[in-house]
Amino acid sequence: MNIQACIFDLDGVIVDTAKYHYKAWRKLAKSLGFDFTEAQNEQLKGVSRMESLNIILKIGNKILDEAQKTALAKQKNDWYLEQVADMTSNEILPGVVDFLNELKAKNIRIALGSASKNAVLTLQKVNLLNYFEVVIDGTKTTRSKPDPQVFQLGAQGLGIPPENCIVFEDAAKGVTAARSAGMYAIGLGNLDELAHAHAVIPSFEHVNFQRIVELLY
Ligand code: BG6
Ligand code: MG
Repeated sequence: MNIQACIFDLDGVIVDTAKYHYKAWRKLAKSLGFDFTEAQNEQLKGVSRMESLNIILKIGNKILDEAQKTALAKQKNDWYLEQVADMTSNEILPGVVDFLNELKAKNIRIALGSASKNAVLTLQKVNLLNYFEVVIDGTKTTRSKPDPQVFQLGAQGLGIPPENCIVFEDAAKGVTAARSAGMYAIGLGNLDELAHAHAVIPSFEHVNFQRIVELLY
């Protein structure tokens, strides 16, 4: 095994924004007269804004035309951005900065692979943009996770073969995408959702690069 690059998902891996996405979608659902649970929200993780809206509308049994959907997606994003506006580096998840610094020191290349169109803004808000040599986000992809495109573009941008990359993901669909790209996948969070990853860690706290590589054997 010769790991040369790490590709990170953003929401729920680098920053604690997964909860803001859920909050904004739930507010939208409630405005349409229904609720949806945190368990149902797992289906939305890693999925683009429009696809997420389609999943929500299905849950609420709502059929809307394209113009209505565009307006709702904008409303959700406006609510989401209200939360992002107040973000500081306090919302970087535990252990992330130390881990990124360790990668830099070891010359392991770093890329972002996120479905979010707000990725650059979010990284700027928490002062982490400079760590990422390549940023592939929702403005650069045409297919959502579980399609491997976002990670393939990340590895290509770095010029590193897939088998030399580790992807870090909190979404089941993201783990599937990484594996379809032929990369190693480390799940962040709950083993129940992420059992198809090569390994699952609760957070970046108390792990270093060597420990991650050991977990892959
Ligand atoms: C992903 C999140 O990172 O980005 C999803 O897991 C979100 O919940 C998606 O829907 C798209 O984000 P945005 O910021 O473009 O609406
Ligand atoms: Mg995520």
